Amino acid sequence: MGAQQVAERFTELYGAEPEGVWAAPGRVNLIGEHTDYNDGFVMPFALPQQAIAAVSRRTDGILRLHSADIEGGVVELPPDALEPGRDTDWTAYPAGVAWALREAGHGVTGADVHLSSTVPTGAGLSSSAALEVVIALALDDLYGLGLPGWKLARLCQRAENVYVGAPTGIMDQTASACCEQGHALFLDTRDLSQQQIPFDLAAEGLRLLVVDTQVKHAHSGGEYGKRRAGCEKGAALLGVDALRDIPYAGLDAALARLGDEEEVRRLVRHVVTEDERVERTVALLRAGDTRAIGPVLTEGHASLRDDFRVSCPELDLVVDTALSAGALGARMTGGGFGGSAIVLAEATDVDTLTKTVEEAFAAAGRTAPRVFEAVPSAGARRLV
Ligand code: GLA
Repeated sequence: MGAQQVAERFTELYGAEPEGVWAAPGRVNLIGEHTDYNDGFVMPFALPQQAIAAVSRRTDGILRLHSADIEGGVVELPPDALEPGRDTDWTAYPAGVAWALREAGHGVTGADVHLSSTVPTGAGLSSSAALEVVIALALDDLYGLGLPGWKLARLCQRAENVYVGAPTGIMDQTASACCEQGHALFLDTRDLSQQQIPFDLAAEGLRLLVVDTQVKHAHSGGEYGKRRAGCEKGAALLGVDALRDIPYAGLDAALARLGDEEEVRRLVRHVVTEDERVERTVALLRAGDTRAIGPVLTEGHASLRDDFRVSCPELDLVVDTALSAGALGARMTGGGFGGSAIVLAEATDVDTLTKTVEEAFAAAGRTAPRVFEAVPSAGARRLV
């Protein structure tokens, strides 16, 4: 659905044209997984799939929400109804953002909102961050707050952590808010410093596929929290603020100090080696050696599968099949336990690869995956 259609539907619903229309994308993460809550490095890029919101201000503090993607009418939330943990459906994301803005002392009263999103949900592609960021940007713009993208991302993360109750890091919201077309975002999650790294695969005869396994494992929320707690335990045992502070060269010594804490040792090993893989990827891309990032991606998958243990049979099936069919590299992307994998391949190999992965899923009796090409796209912006 385009900006025009979203605006027209808004007008039908609320009886007046919207003041504006904004968009915020989903993302894939190229490399740097489960590092963001360890103050580490990540490297996401924005997808063309995005959430679009038509929004107008209201002076009475009421938030009215409607989604083209969910059955049901307009949901009306009076200002005193915005309370963490209260909303348990999709409205928690936009409501949480309005709550976080007000909590931070920004003079946001109410809004009428109509939303529509093409970011697949439950696929590990940050559909919720897209919803949060599009609302944050719209309210920022309409109420003249002038907040930079990284600050909007922080407020959206607070909405997700406190209002929705999901203990996620800062990557997804920053990716949606700050990515630029044709680039991957090299982000230091400690201070949110950013570098846009040119990432034009098509110019080099390459493609990056997203394979959505359509699997959503139960308990993923709880498992994510457990990994996070395990990393915090590791940092505490090693006497550092965050695992980011363990240099790659000091990894063996750190692991030795963890003695028989086998579970924590594995988590630490993943995080420290993953930060190094992000830095290696950046260096290779800067050197114009894009094909060479393939094996780095694949190493990252092995670490997530064996050490961090957040993969699942379907993600492993994508990675193994793609590699055996000639992919340059492949890995799960996002939080794991289902969702999507990415596959880096020569453009000329893409059709065969896709077919091979689809056949492997059919042979294993699994639901057919959704495969699409990921083109580094624009971050959040005003459309109309
Ligand atoms: C989810 C979270 C992110 C990040 C990834 C794993 O997408 O929302 O903050 O932790 O998992 O890298």
